[in-house]
Amino acid sequence: MSRAARAFVAAVMVAGPAVAADAQPPRAATPCTACHGPKGVATMPDAPHIAGQPRAYLVEQLKAFRSGRRTHEVMTFMAKNLSDADIQEIADWYSSFEIEVKPRP
Ligand code: HEC
Repeated sequence: MSRAARAFVAAVMVAGPAVAADAQPPRAATPCTACHGPKGVATMPDAPHIAGQPRAYLVEQLKAFRSGRRTHEVMTFMAKNLSDADIQEIADWYSSFEIEVKPRP
């Protein structure tokens, strides 16, 4: 990882008091972790961090991608086959983390 990328990841510290340390993402989130990371800290430079986003926002955005109201080459495809239950589980998971923001070192 580049120095800049490391600094960026370090700038977004994720702690999960609501989730046990060994908890795993729900099954529906498995493909998402490749870009957004298991806890929502993005592992791809062009993917947004989604850890700690409000639950309602995550539900809203995933439904918007699924319906085509919001479009993006990758996300439209990723959300296409999510059920309402999948979306609820994914939103529960990623919104369960707490974000701490601090200046880059
Ligand atoms: C190949 C990489 C990739 C994968 C896999 C992926 N995403 Fe994304 N995701 C992105 C990118 C890139 C964006 C930014 C979309 C845009 O610019 O509108 C995004 C945007 C989002 C957003 C909106 C964030 C915001 O701030 O508005 C959510 C929520 C999200 N993804 C959830 C998921 C979920 C849930 C999955 C799995 C079902 C998933 N993503 C799989 C790359 C990915």
